[in-house]
Formats: sequence, structure tokens, C-alpha cells
Amino acid sequence: MAKDRERRMYVGVIFNYAAELKLFLSALLLLCALATILQFLPSRFTLSISDLRSCSATQDSPSSSSSSSSLSATLHSSIPPPSPHPSTSLPTDQLLPNGILRRVFRPYGAAAYNFITMGAYRGGVDNFAIVGLASKPLHVFGHPTYQCQWIPLLHPSNPINASAFKILPDWGYGRVYTVVVVNCTFPHPVNADNQGGKLLLYASTSGGGDRNFNLTDTIEVLTESPGGMNASLFTSSPKYDYLYCGSSLYGNLSPQRVREWLAYHIRLFGVRSHFVIHDAGGVHEEVLQVLKPWMELGYVTLQDIREEERFDGYYHNQFMVVNDCLHRYKFMAKWMFFFDIDEFIYVPPKSTIKSVLDSLSDYAQFTIEQMPMNSKTCLTEDAGRTHRKWGFEKLVYKDVKRGIRRDRKYAVQPRRVFATGVHMSENVAGKTTHKTEGKIKYFHYHGTIAHRREPCRSLSNLTQLTLDDTPFLLDTTMRLVAPAVKRFELKMIGSRLQATRQ
Ligand SMILES: *[C@@H]1O[C@H](CO)[C@@H](O)[C@H](O)[C@H]1NC(C)=O
Ligand SMILES: *[C@@H]1O[C@H](CO)[C@@H](O)[C@H](O)[C@H]1NC(C)=O
Ligand SMILES: *[C@@H]1O[C@H](CO)[C@@H](O)[C@H](O)[C@H]1NC(C)=O
Ligand SMILES: *[C@@H]1O[C@H](CO)[C@@H](O)[C@H](O)[C@H]1NC(C)=O
Ligand SMILES: *[C@@H]1O[C@H](CO)[C@@H](O)[C@H](O)[C@H]1NC(C)=O
Repeated sequence: MAKDRERRMYVGVIFNYAAELKLFLSALLLLCALATILQFLPSRFTLSISDLRSCSATQDSPSSSSSSSSLSATLHSSIPPPSPHPSTSLPTDQLLPNGILRRVFRPYGAAAYNFITMGAYRGGVDNFAIVGLASKPLHVFGHPTYQCQWIPLLHPSNPINASAFKILPDWGYGRVYTVVVVNCTFPHPVNADNQGGKLLLYASTSGGGDRNFNLTDTIEVLTESPGGMNASLFTSSPKYDYLYCGSSLYGNLSPQRVREWLAYHIRLFGVRSHFVIHDAGGVHEEVLQVLKPWMELGYVTLQDIREEERFDGYYHNQFMVVNDCLHRYKFMAKWMFFFDIDEFIYVPPKSTIKSVLDSLSDYAQFTIEQMPMNSKTCLTEDAGRTHRKWGFEKLVYKDVKRGIRRDRKYAVQPRRVFATGVHMSENVAGKTTHKTEGKIKYFHYHGTIAHRREPCRSLSNLTQLTLDDTPFLLDTTMRLVAPAVKRFELKMIGSRLQATRQ
């Protein structure tokens, strides 16, 4: 309202200076007046009215900016319930008998959604996880609450309530939104007769945002059709030994680097492995071409999650994405790995990934140490043919600076995990170990994946060198693996990716 008044004052000033503008604005005013009248005409005029009405609304409100597009139509229908202020006779400032002016405050709209679901999954016969985003200030400064309810298809009037607790797994990194995993655990199995039903989530603000109100959104998060539940899934051995959950892929990724990463890891993890890739905008056409052969062989699942960009969370909502992956594939794999596509897992020659993981099977989680690699310096002997070498083949200098705490990556046995993070999970039932030195590590080629150019900038024939005060040592561990990886790729998918570009 106040904004409107300001605008009108501003308009008044312009009047004095430009007579032509005055004429134009009068016309506009007339149009607006017409729009106001039109609002009371029958409904078949609705569309044009809503378009005209935008001239009386503030310029930056979402309803005026795109009132005619179909996108806004769907947005409007899914927007949270209207704010609680009464629609008739708005309260006004009030002069009290004691001479004090009591001011009023009028809320409009909503700044962040109460809840945005990405997925809801069973964790067993009696429990579920709901993964999504929620307004961060609501969680940081308020105490929103959650409840769950199961509605049996045949007996909808006999719902079953569950206790629900929330986990905020993103370490406070969120922005407008924070990641929430709601765990619903029922007192006994639900849908045990397999007749079908649905899971409701009640998301209540409980006075956060507006102390006077406890707004509850009722969200239908999961439906099971009759015969659709298979409880043996929760107890049978998983389909895969290793499942990779990739976090959000973004930016102008190098198809060649992605190609190398896939061939290397599919060879390492073997036939009982699977890779889930999340495309937040990074899988452009050329990257898709290198994923395709492996998708066709059943090694790779690609999920388009670009819509998450609408919601401003931490780094393309990667914490939500990894939690969705955890719960979505919880019963599909014995071990789940979380690391990035510029990182290469390595186990020493005398071991295999299987022997290493068998030795860690008492642990629900283990973390993996990082070996940071220089991403610019290559070998003099590769001069003139660096473009034909693979990234992990030609980048051979490891960063040996001491006393730096480096990020770790990790793997979990997903059936024992309730929520997860990017560097480790803090919600595990069971032991975690960090003592994996000498068993498993990962080589990190930071900054090589999101550039479409030759990484080699300088050449060296030294076994040790110092660049920008950082000491590096020659390490050809990965270089020596490259020929076998190239042969593996050729054997598996033929020569179709030979012409892939940086
Ligand atoms: C929910 O929490 C319970 C109790 O901590 C746990 O047993 C169950 O596995 C969890 N469910 C999911 C899907 O994480
Ligand atoms: C179940 O939850 C609903 C919604 O909060 C509530 O109205 C109802 O009383 C609860 N039923 C029982 C048996 O607690
Ligand atoms: C808000 O409503 C929900 C659902 O009825 C309830 O569980 C919760 O306790 C209420 N919060 C407050 C602060 O009263
Ligand atoms: C249920 O799942 C088990 C193991 O996952 C599978 O062997 C079985 O065929 C499934 N049953 C049905 C009816 O789909
Ligand atoms: C390394 O390269 C330098 C020139 O850059 C050359 O003088 C030297 O002989 C080379 N050393 C070896 C061991 O090849």
C-alpha cells in the first residue's frame, strides 16, 4: 500500500515536467479504472481482467510479471495457502483514547515455501523418509513441527498416526532453503495387508514466521497401490554391491573428463555396480553422448533435476540430492559411495575394491582420504601429445604440503543410515572409521572438470618441484592404470567415444 502511494507521488512529479507523459498516464489511469470496473463483470472476462489488473498492482509482484504464461498458471495453483490476514475490512491504524496511535502490520504472500518435496521412500515395513527443502529462517528461528499419517485405501476413516522427527543434514549451509529429512516411524507396520494407501505429511509452522498462527500444510507424499508393496525388499540381499550417488552436476563440464571418470570407475567397481548421476544443468549434449553407452549397458541412471534451481539452497541443492539418492536406493546396494566426478577412488594393487570393503564390513561408514593433484603441470615427455593423454594419465604431480586439513569423502552401508551429507553422514546406526589410510584413497583433480580446455599449462621433467609455495612430487600411480582403463572402455563400448573432446 505504502509503495503504491509512493509511486503515485513519483508520478505527480513527472506530471510537472512532461505534458505528453501526462496524456499517456491519464490514458493508463483510465485503463486501470476500466480494469477495476471490469473485475465485477462475469467470469468469461477473467483472463483479460487479470492482465489489466497488473497495472494497479506493484510492478515486481509475481502475479503481474508473468500473468499470461502457462507457467504462472501452474505456479499459482500450487502456491501455499493464502496468508492469514482477513480479506474483508482490513484493519487500519487506530487512535486509542489515551492518544496513542496503534499501527497495524499487514502480511502479504509468502517468501519461502513451507515444504518442497523431492521424494518419499519406505525405510521398512513401518517407517518412511521424506526428503525435501523447507524455509531456512523458519527452521533456524522457529520450531516448525511435522506429523505423519497413513490413510489405508479401503478404510480412509481409520488413519494411523506416526511420530515424526526431522533431520537437517546440510550443516547450516542452506540459503533461502535448508534441507530437511523427515523420518516417520509408525507404531506397527502400515499397509501390511498390501491393500494400498497413502502417506500424508503434516507440516506445521507452529508460530514460526507469524507467532499468531499455526499453519499446517497437508502434503500427500507417497501412494501405494494395491499389491504394490514388496516387504521382502527390506530383508533380501541388494541387487548391487556398490552404488555411486553423484551430487548435482552443474556448469560447462568437459565431456572427455566425464568419459575418463566413467570408464575408470566402472572398471574399478565392476559388474555389480551402478552410478546415479544428477543433472542440475551440467549434462549438456556432448556430456550426454559419453553417458549414453553406459546407460545402454545399464551402468548409469541419469536424473534430470534442473528444476531444483528454482529453489535457492546450498550449491545446487546437493545435500537434498544426496539424501534423495540415499533413501531412493537404500535397499539396492550393499555400499553407497559419495564423491565428485573430479575425484578418482583408488585401492592399492594387491587389493580389490571387494577385499577392501569386506575388511570394513563391521563399519556402517568409512571416510576416504584425499590425494590432491596438480591440475596444470604435465610431463615434458608428453610434449606435443598431451591432448591425446587422459587427464589422470598426464596430471602426475601430487600436492604434498603438510599440515592442511583436507576434505574427505565417504561410503556407507545405506540400510544403517537415516540421512547423509557431502563429506560424511552424521546420522548412522553403527560405527564410523576414518582409519582407512593405505587401504583406499582418492585422487582429486580439482578444477579440471568444469573447463573445456587442455589442462596441461606447463611441462616438467622433475621428480619434485615447488609451485606457488606448494611442494609437489611426481606420482605416476594413476598414469600407469590408464592403458588398462582405455582397453576396458574399448572392450565394453567399442570405439564410439574415441572422438570425444575436452
Ligand atoms: C527412521 O528412524 C528410525 C528410528 O531411528 C530408524 O529405525 C529408521 O530406519 C528410520 N527410517 C528411515 C527411512 O531413515
Ligand atoms: C492423528 O492426527 C490427526 C492430525 O493431527 C489428529 O487430528 C488425530 O486426532 C490424531 N489421531 C490420534 C488417534 O491420535
Ligand atoms: C501446530 O499444529 C500441529 C498440528 O496440529 C501440532 O502438532 C503442533 O503441536 C502445533 N504447534 C503449536 C506450537 O501449537
Ligand atoms: C519381491 O522382491 C523380491 C526381492 O527383491 C523378489 O525376489 C520378488 O520377486 C518380489 N515379489 C514380487 C511379487 O514382486
Ligand atoms: C630436464 O629439462 C631440462 C630443460 O628444461 C634439461 O636441461 C634437463 O637435461 C632435463 N633433465 C632430464 C633428466 O631429462
